[in-house]
Amino acid sequence: MDFDTLIIGAGAAGLICAAQAPGKCLVIDHAKAAGEKIRISGGGRCNFTNLYASAENYISRNPHFAKSALARYTQWDFIDWVARSGIAYHEKTLGQLFCDGSAKEIVAMLLKGVAEAGGQLQLNTSVQSVSTKEGGYTIQLIGPQGPRAVTAHNLVVASGGKPIPKMGATDFALRLAQQFGIPVTETYAGLVPFTFSGAQQEAFKSISGVAAPARLQTNGTAFEEAVLFTHRGLSGPAALQVSSYWSPGEVLTLGLLPEEALRRTVREAKETEGRKSPLTILTRLLPARLVPLVLQDLVLPERIADLTAAQLDHLTERLTQWQLTPAGTEGYRTAEVMVGGVDTAALSSKTMRAKNQPGLYFIGECVDVTGWLGGYNFQWAWSSGWVAGQAIKAGL
Ligand code: FDA
Repeated sequence: MDFDTLIIGAGAAGLICAAQAPGKCLVIDHAKAAGEKIRISGGGRCNFTNLYASAENYISRNPHFAKSALARYTQWDFIDWVARSGIAYHEKTLGQLFCDGSAKEIVAMLLKGVAEAGGQLQLNTSVQSVSTKEGGYTIQLIGPQGPRAVTAHNLVVASGGKPIPKMGATDFALRLAQQFGIPVTETYAGLVPFTFSGAQQEAFKSISGVAAPARLQTNGTAFEEAVLFTHRGLSGPAALQVSSYWSPGEVLTLGLLPEEALRRTVREAKETEGRKSPLTILTRLLPARLVPLVLQDLVLPERIADLTAAQLDHLTERLTQWQLTPAGTEGYRTAEVMVGGVDTAALSSKTMRAKNQPGLYFIGECVDVTGWLGGYNFQWAWSSGWVAGQAIKAGL
């Protein structure tokens, strides 16, 4: 064999795996630079993990699958590596850790790890075909030096998911899984803004740029974070989080205010400043540009003192449970993650190795384990990549 291990994809999962894998290891990537998604992540500062990461922060057909890898290589293990590498970081919010400086420091740390482990990196190289060979795999590559067939005992698929095709994202891992009879679950764009159509889109467009803290819910799952109105629809952390749980046609329930706070404010206003309009009163609780839009089709009196019990109920319903039906999402063009992927039922949760295929591993985003917004997806890439690297180490 030419190599002990060949890794397809020099992204987060592939690079950490290569930094663990001993022996002759080659990492190939069709992009012209390694770790491009790391570089652009977190607005260039990479939200590289989350202090509170656990299996509950992941969506998968098997919600228990991620537990083993996340427990064996935790956020603390990665934070330790970051700190030992002298990379300064901070917690932004909700346990989300970002570099103080640049995401490029994380890429450099990983590349140093690969070099120290003796791994080779070959960019601008794609895979034309993969076939089995006794005791391993033959991989037909095409790179800057033209076509070349290489053999390897272990083949690690770390080619990521479908988001941002402009950056070279492909469904390669899903196709390769199918070639080996490994099932793939339904995939769709997650952590992605919602789009609306018609009058609703026009309304949101008119307040594009307005953000508000909210509770957004779909399908029984709710997130309390900010929403951002955009010229196409709804974005912001709460919308991105909920998008991973949404199916086309389903309703979103937007809560802009807690019911108790709203009713208290109205009660007090009726008593002490009854001549003011409901709009004026609500502007104290919500962004001024948002209030007329939320209230536009409600019948309300001019003076808050004249608000009837039925009108208050309508107002409460609108502000605590506004029912919105998106036209769709922005899709893989802007999504941060692919939901679904290689079916975990076909993989070992301890090693990420395919149960039916010796030496074949799937790690990172291509697997049906999808994290929430907030550093969870990188943590899955680190944990799954690390356990695969350890399994290879143990087997060599
Ligand atoms: P990744 O996509 O990193 O790597 C796959 C590699 O395979 C790429 O280098 C690609 O070029 C290569 N490849 C693909 N197909 C190939 C083929 N056919 N042949 C050869 N090479 C191929 N997550 C998080 O936790 N915190 C954050 O701050 C962010 N921010 C963020 C911003 C944006 C804009 C996006 C799009 C995504 C994020 N994410 C994130 C998600 C995170 O980037 C993602 O989950 C990880 O990069 C997944 O790591 P992988 O190694 O699995 O795939």
